[in-house]
Amino acid sequence: MNTQTPKHKIKHPFTENLLQWAKENPRHLPWKDTNDPYKIWLSEIILQQTRVAQGRPYYEKFAATYPTVENLANAPEDEVMRMWEGLGYYSRARNMHAAAKYIAGELKGKFPNTHKEILQLKGVGPYTAAAIASFAFELPHAVVDGNVYRVLARRFGIETPIDSTEGKKEFALLAEELLDREKPSVYNQAIMDFGSTHCTPANPSCTDCPLQENCVAHHKGLISKLPLKSKKLKRTTRYFHYFMLQLPNDTFLLQKRIGKGIWRNLYQFPLIEAAQLLDFEALTQTEEWQQLFANQEVVLKKSSKTYKHQLTHQTIFLQFFELQLKEKPSTLLDCIEVKAADFDSYAFPRVMNLFLEDRANQESGQLEMF
Ligand code: ADE
Repeated sequence: MNTQTPKHKIKHPFTENLLQWAKENPRHLPWKDTNDPYKIWLSEIILQQTRVAQGRPYYEKFAATYPTVENLANAPEDEVMRMWEGLGYYSRARNMHAAAKYIAGELKGKFPNTHKEILQLKGVGPYTAAAIASFAFELPHAVVDGNVYRVLARRFGIETPIDSTEGKKEFALLAEELLDREKPSVYNQAIMDFGSTHCTPANPSCTDCPLQENCVAHHKGLISKLPLKSKKLKRTTRYFHYFMLQLPNDTFLLQKRIGKGIWRNLYQFPLIEAAQLLDFEALTQTEEWQQLFANQEVVLKKSSKTYKHQLTHQTIFLQFFELQLKEKPSTLLDCIEVKAADFDSYAFPRVMNLFLEDRANQESGQLEMF
């Protein structure tokens, strides 16, 4: 009798330890209760660049409002953007909506069930495709994201930069080797959970780590150094001067951001972007101001503090100016006129909501109470 374990059943000690850890540390998340590929896809798009604690209520809201891919496909774009408000990286919402339309239309509502086809959906990269393929269809594809890079770089002491072609290949190969091919969904969820709750970027729980004995970074004192990146992140700084323009009919002008770039399809007040932060006097001297308001009479009612908004590649400083106008400027004909009480129906960049909240608090005198 052959008593040898079949080769595919022999798991790497890393895999054994990880699966054991996951068994002892179950993490209940709403998208784990389902193998509906639509719901899993929804959760994975929401969780791209978003922490679980922040994404979870959004997942619940989207899953309840749009229980099927057809429901999402048929929703108006503005409604989807409005529901996404606060999550950031809005191209995810646009791509998600486009992919829902494609699935509901071209694919007649049938979610693609191979890794290759899933990868073709807008907004789905290799990581998300592997997650959906394994969670919904138990297909053997290993997830590789920031959490996985960190866990593997530390445990195996890999010093190849994760943003190099060589590094990407090396990590992807190792991840595939370590995958439990019998239960890819359990393994993938385990490594994600381990990376995000245990082997965290700062202050990982090394003292009670099940991988510590074999963790190369731990033995070499490299925990805080790994994973390595070759490039430093380049950030640009931008300065936005927003105008909250009030018309005599008590409405405010809002415009939809179009074109490429941040916050596309969200609504905002008209603005002037400058190479530095300008005070009101300096703003009125700019060419953009002349173009916007020509010879209009403009009364400054209030200006806000400076807000700072940090994105991955951009730091944005913003200031808001409340201005009273006598009429709608001809240069702003594309703007819509909206009462402040109706602002809730529009998706704004988060920082604009912050400003509006501060403004409402000031108006109700709440700030003085502190
Ligand atoms: N981040 C991305 N996908 C995740 C998932 N399925 N569980 C936990 N964190 C995640």
